[in-house]
Amino acid sequence: MSIWIAGTGSATPSLSVPNSEMTKFGDTSDEWITTATGIKERRVLSQDETLQGLVDKAAERALEAAGVVPKEVDLCIVATIAGDTLVPSTSSNVKRALHMERAVNFDLNMACSGFMYALWTAQSLMLANNFATAVVIGAEQLSRMTDWGDRSTFVLFGDAAAGCVLKNDMAGSGVLDINAKRGIIASDIRSHYDDTLCLQVSGLTTPTPFVDGEDLPHVVKMNGRAVFKFATAIMQEHIESVTKKAGMTIDDIDYFIPHQANQRIVAHVAKVLGIPMEKMFLNVHKYGNTSAASVPLALDEFMRSGNARAGQNLLMVAFGGGLSSASCVVKV
Ligand code: ACO
Repeated sequence: MSIWIAGTGSATPSLSVPNSEMTKFGDTSDEWITTATGIKERRVLSQDETLQGLVDKAAERALEAAGVVPKEVDLCIVATIAGDTLVPSTSSNVKRALHMERAVNFDLNMACSGFMYALWTAQSLMLANNFATAVVIGAEQLSRMTDWGDRSTFVLFGDAAAGCVLKNDMAGSGVLDINAKRGIIASDIRSHYDDTLCLQVSGLTTPTPFVDGEDLPHVVKMNGRAVFKFATAIMQEHIESVTKKAGMTIDDIDYFIPHQANQRIVAHVAKVLGIPMEKMFLNVHKYGNTSAASVPLALDEFMRSGNARAGQNLLMVAFGGGLSSASCVVKV
């Protein structure tokens, strides 16, 4: 059997906020943000937009690209740390909105690695249950969870939803066929306990009148330097290990779709591993770090660009809060 990417889709808010606007919230500059991160602008949800609206649109576009009708979908996973509603889950809401009547659905929280974890989970469940079709979405609204008084984080994040439709070719015995002409060839999923990147849930720290304590703000707290160090080392490790697992070398990879957190992280990894920057697909300059939506947003843009060809080997790699990291090699 082989699980392959049949279509991709994404949706971003209409409001684009350039670096020049960031100076309103703190002592920063376009020059600092561009040099330190590569980010030039980010998309931010307006009052009349919702993350769920982006999720529904991204899923609809991925289904359209795959030529799949919603009632055929067996499984729907949404990776997000905070949808518009905790219950129903974001995946329940998109299932209802698009009428994916028979889909089994759930949300998954693994911060910026969430989409990659969801892809691996979907692949595993499809193989185990003979599911034919799955929708996997990554979605985040970090602009609404950012401390707009902390210049070391508010310049980084943006909002988006993006994902793909996976199909099972249903051929063979149930064992993953690594010689298939397309599909996910190898994955590497890791978690590393560390609290250099945290988001406390406000309200839940003082849940009853019987407990004293100060409520915590519902915002991202991050040790940027520590995350940077982790990210460069772990992305390098993943690229080496997942290509080996796929029976390939780094030269066999046509394009790398890395988590779009910081252009400097990607450039550093490319330099250490001798990967030409032209093979690193980047759109962080347009969207900033959209967390769980970041890899699929880049994947969707790549697949719709003139660079995509059938039979290419793509390597997707992400890192995120937890800390967590994940990678996969996929033949498209
Ligand atoms: N504007 C101007 N100056 C700033 C800003 C800003 N927005 N932010 C920090 N600075 C200053 C600092 O105060 C510091 O000044 P000082 O030297 O006078 O003390 C100086 O710039 C350097 O600060 P560093 O934190 O060392 O800057 P660094 O080069 O490490 O860049 C950054 C910071 C961009 C956050 C970087 O560390 C980074 O990208 N880290 C990884 C973050 C990341 O990827 N997070 C996402 C994880 S995924 C997830 O799950 C959400």
